[in-house]
Amino acid sequence: MGCQLLPMLPPLLLLLLLLGTPGLQGQGQEPVEEPPEAESPSEEDGVLVLSQHNLGRALQEHRALLVEFYAPWCSHCQALAPEYSKAAALLAAESAAVTLAKVDASAEPELTEEFGVTEYPTLKFFRDGNRTHPEEYTGPREAEGIAEWLRRRVGASARRLEDEESARALIDAQDVVVIGFFQDLQDEDVATFLDLARDALDLTFGLTDSPQLFEKFGLTEDTVVLFKKFDEGRADFPVDMQLGLDLGDLSRFLVTHSMHLVTDFNSQTSPKIFAAKILNHLLLFVNETLAAHRELRAGFAEAAPPFRGKVLFVVVDVAADNGHVLQYFGLKADEAPTLRLINMETNKKHAPAAGEPITAASVTAFCEAVLHGQVQPYLLSQEVPLDWDQRPVKTLVGKNFEQVVYDEAKSVFVKFYAPWCSHCKEMAPAWEALAEKYRDREDIVIAELDATSNELEGLTVHGFPTLMYFPAGPGRKMIEYKSNRDVETFSKFLDNGGELPPEEPAAPSPEPPANATVEPKEEL
Ligand SMILES: *[C@@H]1O[C@H](CO)[C@@H](O)[C@H](O)[C@H]1NC(C)=O
Ligand SMILES: *[C@@H]1O[C@H](CO)[C@@H](O)[C@H](O)[C@H]1NC(C)=O
Repeated sequence: MGCQLLPMLPPLLLLLLLLGTPGLQGQGQEPVEEPPEAESPSEEDGVLVLSQHNLGRALQEHRALLVEFYAPWCSHCQALAPEYSKAAALLAAESAAVTLAKVDASAEPELTEEFGVTEYPTLKFFRDGNRTHPEEYTGPREAEGIAEWLRRRVGASARRLEDEESARALIDAQDVVVIGFFQDLQDEDVATFLDLARDALDLTFGLTDSPQLFEKFGLTEDTVVLFKKFDEGRADFPVDMQLGLDLGDLSRFLVTHSMHLVTDFNSQTSPKIFAAKILNHLLLFVNETLAAHRELRAGFAEAAPPFRGKVLFVVVDVAADNGHVLQYFGLKADEAPTLRLINMETNKKHAPAAGEPITAASVTAFCEAVLHGQVQPYLLSQEVPLDWDQRPVKTLVGKNFEQVVYDEAKSVFVKFYAPWCSHCKEMAPAWEALAEKYRDREDIVIAELDATSNELEGLTVHGFPTLMYFPAGPGRKMIEYKSNRDVETFSKFLDNGGELPPEEPAAPSPEPPANATVEPKEEL
């Protein structure tokens, strides 16, 4: 994420920028100033300030140089600035052989072009004065992350281990440590391993070719071993001798096995839970303030090991700030303790049979049954409100949807909305007015459904609002309305049986044609 290259500038300034700043100095005339070729860069908060004139020299002088291309008005750059300086200070304190620099790229059109800068900030890492092939910086945007990304490039990304003592020391130092055991350190697989280590900044890596260490850890073939201070303690990834080490496979293995078998859901863990790319998530909803609920964890955790990599086990505390998770599953806090299993690809949710006690055996059986397709997914629905048909706009929920929209005697026009969606709020008065207009028509129903709390079989809404017309008569026809959201256009559509009448060419109208614009929607 970054700032666009050209901000909202007054047109004249924009024009001057596009023409290039040299024009401002009077191209073709004698330059007013001497070209400051030999100018040495100044420093700001430990960061070199570079320009077109001294970038070349800086590249000669610094064998490892990270350059930030920024613009003074770019908010992402402003947010990065203190972190960038802090990273420079961290590295300077360690005497790391790397320098951080910045270029105001908005004032340097030639550098912007040379380095293909298309957004701010863009960071590039230059090595050995090589100006043509910098490495794109893709690391974190906070100080420690920036420093670690650089350390793993100017130093080794994996610590070389020669003996048991150094291996033990590394393993003991962190919760999770990954060691590559390779018989030949010149092997291509080692390069793959080190590439991964350069970017997996949250893990610590070691590397060895010592026969003594192979033996100590019970290995005979090249293997990547993940050591952890929890759960199984260790997980092995044998290198396929024919196919070699696959970076994607190893990366997935490390993510899967560095997670705890049971993860508590909270704001720190939720990014990891989603990044784990595990297809199914099993959630245990408990009220952590109750001892009887806390005790259920043991059985839940006991069931987890055989499902590692297939089902991620997560505990959600209903007494904590997890209302959004409950809502997503259509649950209320007093329904805890209970389980839900969701497939992250299809969003299909499954519930166990009501009243089933939560034990290691029942959790295992529930997971197996869902994975084998033996449990029907459930759909969210609110309860049908008592007054659902009392107002001009009828209230639909999952439970009355079928019965109302597929009534063969009626044509039903439905607004699928989200409570937070601003476009939905904007069109609400027009929808009310439309319902008011047709309230005496027995054959037409104007309705709405909160699509965040009600799911429908075979009908998935991808943006809000979505307007659908279900004509009277047999068959389950459904027509999406995509035109202007005003009473007049809605009425034309309804009166014409679910399509807009063609515009009459003879009568030129000052208004644009009704279907000329596609009205905006908000994404889910
Ligand atoms: C810069 O690096 C690239 C890729 O490694 C290489 O092909 C090129 O020769 C290098 N240029 C210089 C000047 O060292
Ligand atoms: C959790 O349990 C405590 C103790 O019974 C209760 O006071 C609290 O309301 C419960 N929390 C929720 C969200 O149900």
